[in-house]
Amino acid sequence: MNILLLGSGGREHAFAWKISKSKLCKKLFVAPGNAGTQNIAENIYLNINDFNEIKDFVIKNNIELVVVGPEEPLVRGIVDFFNNDSELTNVKIFGPSKKGAQLEGSKNFSKDFMFRNKIPCGKSKTFNKETIDEAFKFLETMKAPYVLKADGLAAGKGVIISENIEEAKKNLNNMLLNEQFGEASKNVLIEEFLEGIEVSVFVISDGKDYIVLPEAKDYKRIGENDTGLNTGGMGAVSPVNFATKQFLQLVEESIIKPTVDGLNNENIDFKGFIFAGLMNVQGKPYVIEYNVRMGDPETQVVIPRIKNDFVDIILKCINNRIKEIELEIENKFATTVILASNGYPEKYSKGDIISNLEEKNESIIFHAGTKLNDNKVVTNGGRVIACTGLGNDLNSALNNSYNLAKSISWNNKYYRKDIGKDLLKK
Ligand code: AMP
Ligand code: GLY
Repeated sequence: MNILLLGSGGREHAFAWKISKSKLCKKLFVAPGNAGTQNIAENIYLNINDFNEIKDFVIKNNIELVVVGPEEPLVRGIVDFFNNDSELTNVKIFGPSKKGAQLEGSKNFSKDFMFRNKIPCGKSKTFNKETIDEAFKFLETMKAPYVLKADGLAAGKGVIISENIEEAKKNLNNMLLNEQFGEASKNVLIEEFLEGIEVSVFVISDGKDYIVLPEAKDYKRIGENDTGLNTGGMGAVSPVNFATKQFLQLVEESIIKPTVDGLNNENIDFKGFIFAGLMNVQGKPYVIEYNVRMGDPETQVVIPRIKNDFVDIILKCINNRIKEIELEIENKFATTVILASNGYPEKYSKGDIISNLEEKNESIIFHAGTKLNDNKVVTNGGRVIACTGLGNDLNSALNNSYNLAKSISWNNKYYRKDIGKDLLKK
């Protein structure tokens, strides 16, 4: 079948890499894609939030399956748009409904969902500018550090953690009264701080049943030893050694099953990924947030470990048959190190020519912010390349990632040297 994949990051290159290996895929288009997807699929320029433009392309090119990478089109309701259009009845789309996507699109919605379904998470309350005095009072009842979260999508920047109450009040003022995150911080959650280590768990659900994909750990900060500004993610590893069988069983019983049962009981259409960002608090998992898409760069370590035909998984999910899938996982470690443009996540340059883009033994290059310019691959974003390595143990996977990370070069390359190192010590 002809397949259209929406998105342009490392996650989408990893999806495209896997989809293009499927025997069910005749032709793959990626919109807008990057220099990496251009090698294995056809890139086309479409605005991924302009559903009419996508519809025209889908009809003209006999697309039978649309796979959505990032959250924004999902939160804006692309799945409802496709499923309710009589000219698109033969087209399948993989992702949650607009209501389901609220699990990521509104932290207030997702918190209420967790409270209703008794899913372990930090206690919290939501406030707006009319209730700011109550918010200040509520802050007084909490302990430091104080967690403030913009309700809406804020490009991964909407969480502010303050060490003392004065700072928390100032930040709350900025969010609610000065609209620091625009519309997204019209409502702000004040949440209990959860102390522990983070791990991400990924599920594919058809709204009734689910399969659990390999877990991963992401390294979010720009600087080594988890210092400096938050980024989209500077590296990832899978599997995660502290996520023991017993812990993952607890995750399934206390989080995944109640989440999917909640969607089912509340009649929320959901055929897509559930990405649960978890905190392991002394062996007990708590949800920090849900996303309704895969993680980036977590995809670049999860997808290479899945042996099954990915298009078959997606189609079974859309057809309410996800429970027929028997997931086969490569018994290997996967790691990825992100090569970023110097300056990211703040100001950085674009257009630097990238050289030595050659894969080595047990390694895969996934492009993120790249494009072709006069047949040369140039930088085109903050996170540029994901260097994925595979190995029989964490150390050899990391060696394979770092061999790539060292050899690929351009003028303003930056990467963290400590990805996965904390887990080697455990
Ligand atoms: P989010 O955008 O919800 O993933 O939050 C960004 C980061 O803030 C998370 O990856 C955590 O490191 C941190 N964070 C969010 N909520 C909490 C919490 N309740 N307790 C501790 N850390 C948190
Ligand atoms: N790497 C974190 C995310 O994709 O949200």
